Amino acid sequence: MTGQHLLVKKSNPLHGSAHVHGAKNAVLVIMTSLILTNGISVLENVPNNTDVLLMVTLLEHLGATVTFDTATKQLTVDTRGISKCDVPQDIMNKIRASILVMGPLLARFGAADVAMPGGDLIGMRPINYHLEGFKRLGATIEVHLPYVSAHLDRTAAIPAAVRISLEYPSVGATENILMLACTRNTHTTIINAALEPEVIDLIDVLNKMGANIQVGPATIDIRGVPSLNPIHHTIIPDRLEAGTLLIAAAITGGSIAIPNARPDHLDTFLEKLRAMGHTIVTGFDQEERMALGVTLKATQTPRAITVKTAPYPGFPTDLQPLITAALCTAQGISVVEETVYENRMMYTKGLAKMGAQISVEGSVATVRGVDMLYGSEVIAADLRASCSFLLAGLVAEGETRIAGIHHLLRGYDGLDSKLCALGAQVQLMSDMPIADSSQQKAQISLL
Ligand code: UD1
Repeated sequence: MTGQHLLVKKSNPLHGSAHVHGAKNAVLVIMTSLILTNGISVLENVPNNTDVLLMVTLLEHLGATVTFDTATKQLTVDTRGISKCDVPQDIMNKIRASILVMGPLLARFGAADVAMPGGDLIGMRPINYHLEGFKRLGATIEVHLPYVSAHLDRTAAIPAAVRISLEYPSVGATENILMLACTRNTHTTIINAALEPEVIDLIDVLNKMGANIQVGPATIDIRGVPSLNPIHHTIIPDRLEAGTLLIAAAITGGSIAIPNARPDHLDTFLEKLRAMGHTIVTGFDQEERMALGVTLKATQTPRAITVKTAPYPGFPTDLQPLITAALCTAQGISVVEETVYENRMMYTKGLAKMGAQISVEGSVATVRGVDMLYGSEVIAADLRASCSFLLAGLVAEGETRIAGIHHLLRGYDGLDSKLCALGAQVQLMSDMPIADSSQQKAQISLL
């Protein structure tokens, strides 16, 4: 097997300052929300990663004109030319967030005809809550796998109030239902809604467009308006990139300042780093009247902790594989429980190959801290798994070669060079032949 891979060498403690890019999970949905408008919108602070580029392709397929200035991180989207409501399988397959075009297409054109989306292999990732919500707002759904069609008769009567209660606070379902509800002639309440910072950024965008949305405790209230207008918006900083950089400094026993990280988006995560013994200081911007800036000074003797993932404001599932990498060399026995995705422990095999003492039962990993990890050849099967291996590689003796790096490039913009500027030895390489061990074969089968 050949391809691009990441070469990570045991690095000295990382030190320095780094800024994070705009949040991938916010920009992707905000890009789809622009379909709701008929005009030119401008997004600032847009990260240059493969998922964003694929979303550009999707919008262009629908008929939008998109310009992405990667130097200034400015994305301009003209939605006046959108004329299609269908997205073929080859586009949908490449990016999980593509499902988020359904709500906006239904709202603006009354129809959406898409294939089931692709994305990380971390679980079933069904879309039943999305479809149920669309139905409650008047849509009819037809499923001919892999295609899903939704239609909306916008002249048909709809109840004055629609209450949609989500069995689980799904991020994608909340966002899709929200985007459809904005222009429905009713008062929609989403109960048990996801309130991740990325959902709140979307709500800010929709309200700028002219929507009437209010956020209550675990609920979102939407009073329909006739139409929405183009916007100019700056994407929030990526809390997951901030978490990645903080763990990179922590695992190497270094220090880092991230002046533009939002500590109020990272509370539970920062508490866990403190529990490990790391010193965290958060800042406050007097002018903007908001929490801004995080610094970490690592302890040289990190302690074991327990972690259980949960919807926001709980511990983010996306940072679970990353903190587990850090716990591999912490003193004592850590217990990490995944509750969001049923299949997000596969990466632990790669860490075990690097010398970590990890046993997994169902969705619970027990990690016995070791003094040393060893460089190895590992294959990442999803975005955050690739990051977990990268972090472990920073403290592993010798060299770690990580294949499957296209997953990393989906979600990060120049992470390798950012880490190198802090003192890490990380290099993106091409064409690595992978040795034919049975353990590697087992991981290849996960791809
Ligand atoms: C989003 C994020 C992803 C993050 C996740 C949880 C984007 C592009 N991706 O993914 O990085 O890990 O939130 O914070 O924003 N579920 C159902 N039925 C549904 C929808 C979801 O059963 O219709 C279940 C899923 O199987 C999963 C859980 O709900 O167990 C959470 O999924 P969800 O919050 O929808 O994740 P995504 O929006 O796909």
